[in-house]
Amino acid sequence: MSLASAVLPASRGSHRDLVEVVHVRGLRKSYGGREVVCGIDLDVRRGEVYAFLGPNGAGKTTTVEILEGYRSRDGGEVSVLDRDPASVDRAWRARVGLVLQSCTMPPELTVRELVGLYAGYYPHPREAAETIELVGLADKRDSRVAQLSGGQLRRLDVALALIGDPELVFLDEPTTGFDPSARHHAWEVIASLRELGKTIFLTTHYMDEAQALADRVAIIAAGEIVATGTPETLGGRDRALSDISFSLPAGAGVATLPAELSEVAQLRDGRVHIQAREPARALYALGGWALGHGDDLHDLTVGRPTLEDIYLELTAERSPDGGLTAERSPGGGLTAERSPDGGLTAERSPGGGLTAERSPDGGERG
Ligand SMILES: Nc1ncnc2c1ncn2[C@@H]1O[C@H](COP(=O)(O)OP(=O)(O)OP(=O)(O)O)[C@@H](O)[C@H]1O
Ligand SMILES: [Mg+2]
Repeated sequence: MSLASAVLPASRGSHRDLVEVVHVRGLRKSYGGREVVCGIDLDVRRGEVYAFLGPNGAGKTTTVEILEGYRSRDGGEVSVLDRDPASVDRAWRARVGLVLQSCTMPPELTVRELVGLYAGYYPHPREAAETIELVGLADKRDSRVAQLSGGQLRRLDVALALIGDPELVFLDEPTTGFDPSARHHAWEVIASLRELGKTIFLTTHYMDEAQALADRVAIIAAGEIVATGTPETLGGRDRALSDISFSLPAGAGVATLPAELSEVAQLRDGRVHIQAREPARALYALGGWALGHGDDLHDLTVGRPTLEDIYLELTAERSPDGGLTAERSPGGGLTAERSPDGGLTAERSPGGGLTAERSPDGGERG
């Protein structure tokens, strides 16, 4: 018996369904004959934060929208909360919360009115005032949507995703446009959702966000999954050698380093880099050498590659934008997020034609 089947109640569904909230095999999607999702597999387990990373145009939003039931697929097997999202009902939608990459909301409504309105769409909504508080908008509850800043709108978006008290929450770049403290607040919200047992599917361009929140990470590049793992193990990060880096003391060359170091030392960006299998031993030798040169190595750094290093390495060759992805991201800006001309944008207007998208019984998006 596996750990999961030993721990989880066997009350409903198959063994797989008890563990997996999202199960994807061989998912494909093309636009105008160009395949942008090329047969990917994904498994998201109940109660985890799953981060979906990848360069601009890699296929993240396309994949997420297929999982949400807002975009059709061309091939593959998809199950989300035991259902094929291509044919779901109101009850299924009520179990899923969404923060879309872009959306617009009715500008004339206040925060309280809008959140209250959406609460009405769901059979078992959260308390509206408490949800507004949760996302840090309590002092803006009587402000109109039109008066909110970009980051405040995004918080409102998160409130609307949570108001139905969903089991599974899709967050497509939820913190783009947030100031640093708002991002950390959002992380707390996401962490608290996880503690409540919710499953979170998160796309982000912030590696520190994935590092801080994710139980598991998948990287997609040019429509293919290039790596999956925990933030700690992704791409062999846990097995990578430590990098010791410092600026050379004035007048000292690499050749003057102790032989065991000079043999492996490389000069990059004006700094010496030493890949060390035994960092303590290397540092011991380095320390003696530096003090001999009267230098304290004030800018010394030691560490394994960061998640960002691994990400850049895995995506560099495959980025359609030529590997500039991490620098460029998070792109889009606030105007793009708020304007409906991005193609993937959805209206949040409860009275408008696209209202249903946000309501539990929504249909296919435009
Ligand atoms: N409705 C559409 N019609 C045609 N092409 C589309 C459409 N939506 C997306 N694409 C294209 O599909 C590819 C994947 O887009 P997608 O939005 O899924 O990328 P992404 O990984 O979410 O990128 P980003 O990080 O910029 O949000 C891109 O090349 C995009 O131009
Ligand atoms: Mg996207």
